[in-house]
Amino acid sequence: MSDIRDISLAEAGERKIKWAQRNMPLLSAITQELVKTKPFRGTIIALSIHMEAKTACLCRALALGGAEMHVTGCNPLSTQDDVAAALALGGDDGAGAIDVHAYHAATPEEYARHLTAVLESGAQIIIDDGGDLVNLLHTRLTHLLPDVIGGCEETTTGVMRLRAMERDGALRFPMIAVNNAKCKYLFDNRYGTGQSVWDGINRTTNLIVAGKNVVVAGYGWCGKGIAMRAKGFGARVIITEIDPVRALEAMMDGFDVMTMERAAAQGDIFVTATGCRGVIDSRHFNSLKDGAILCNAGHFDVEVAMDELEAAAASKYEARHNIAGYRLKNGREIFVIAEGRLVNLASGDGHPAEIMDMSFAIQALSAKYLIENRDKLKTGVVDVPEEIDTDVARRKLSASGLMIDTLTPEQRAYLEGWGAQ
Ligand SMILES: NC(=O)c1ccc[n+]([C@@H]2O[C@H](COP(=O)([O-])OP(=O)(O)OC[C@H]3O[C@@H](n4cnc5c(N)ncnc54)[C@H](O)[C@@H]3O)[C@@H](O)[C@H]2O)c1
Repeated sequence: MSDIRDISLAEAGERKIKWAQRNMPLLSAITQELVKTKPFRGTIIALSIHMEAKTACLCRALALGGAEMHVTGCNPLSTQDDVAAALALGGDDGAGAIDVHAYHAATPEEYARHLTAVLESGAQIIIDDGGDLVNLLHTRLTHLLPDVIGGCEETTTGVMRLRAMERDGALRFPMIAVNNAKCKYLFDNRYGTGQSVWDGINRTTNLIVAGKNVVVAGYGWCGKGIAMRAKGFGARVIITEIDPVRALEAMMDGFDVMTMERAAAQGDIFVTATGCRGVIDSRHFNSLKDGAILCNAGHFDVEVAMDELEAAAASKYEARHNIAGYRLKNGREIFVIAEGRLVNLASGDGHPAEIMDMSFAIQALSAKYLIENRDKLKTGVVDVPEEIDTDVARRKLSASGLMIDTLTPEQRAYLEGWGAQ
């Protein structure tokens, strides 16, 4: 039985789902194909992705493809209770009521209980975002491992955890690295995070970005998008990095590059997007300007060392909805959005629907690939097949009304040969 906050919120959630759906043409077309072929018939799927409207569309697509779905969120603050209610109640699209275990602001114990509940359904396919389901299966719930065929991982941090498990010989089934598909990280991590992080910051703070010093920690796919959009808003952008190549790339893209130690004293708004812990911590708090705003876009709430900040602060207060003010002993005040959890989802609606259309098209096609190739896939981290990436790109171009050229036979022979000039 579902464990949600309030079923009476379902109507509002259903409106959000319908809005997302009408802006997700790829996933809608794939859903129609899944309805006909039912590749997941009789398969139990446990899914843990940010529980909001786009994810609800993916859940229903898989359910309409024949799966028995058990779903939860992957972060206590990103769950939207109205969407959870709509999924649990069921809409008019034939997907039926779905077993949902998630509510906003769940305690760590409640969050763990929800993850456990979806796995104890007898899950055969694991759709994970950040690696918490896979981790639980390999630690506290190992007795459930024999049922598992494999799974798909949505984000960079989850893939990093899977690679670490693979390296240590710990991973017990194939996990498709959905994050590493080109049609995922090039668009979701860069343009999706780039836009939705600023949407989250702007709607939460109601302050201007133009003219401010924005510090972006990490110049990976997310960091590039966040920095690009900050520049578009008129900010002066500073990048901090640990990778010399990415730091150089940031420099050539026109950004200032420096250590966090130096940047700490200059920034007005800080956004971490590294997947690493303690990026802003007690080494930096006392250097921050009065009024500095800190937030995080990385998967876990470890990038800003919140425990160290709590210990360093003389007092704390609610400055505005979802903004905590910390009075430091040096008399300055600094502000943290959404408890240092990923700002675009814990203080916003996440990526635009058109972006998640591509990411979740890859999820749905990868899950189908997994079930169809269950006897062939190796245990470990598996790449998304190139054909799925190309298929999704073609579908997206077509949905956008764009055509591209095709190689003539002569051109193909020229590109594939080595004799001609
Ligand atoms: N908020 C969202 O909606 C969203 C979307 C996609 C990914 N993510 C998460 O964002 C994080 C980053 O993802 P990505 O795809 O950009 O990863 P990435 O690997 O492409 O980039 C991370 C960058 O951070 C740098 N880095 C690592 N430790 C650092 C440190 N201590 N200081 C400065 N730089 C450091 C790395 O060198 C790398 O260039 C991950 O946790 C990922 O799961 C969030």
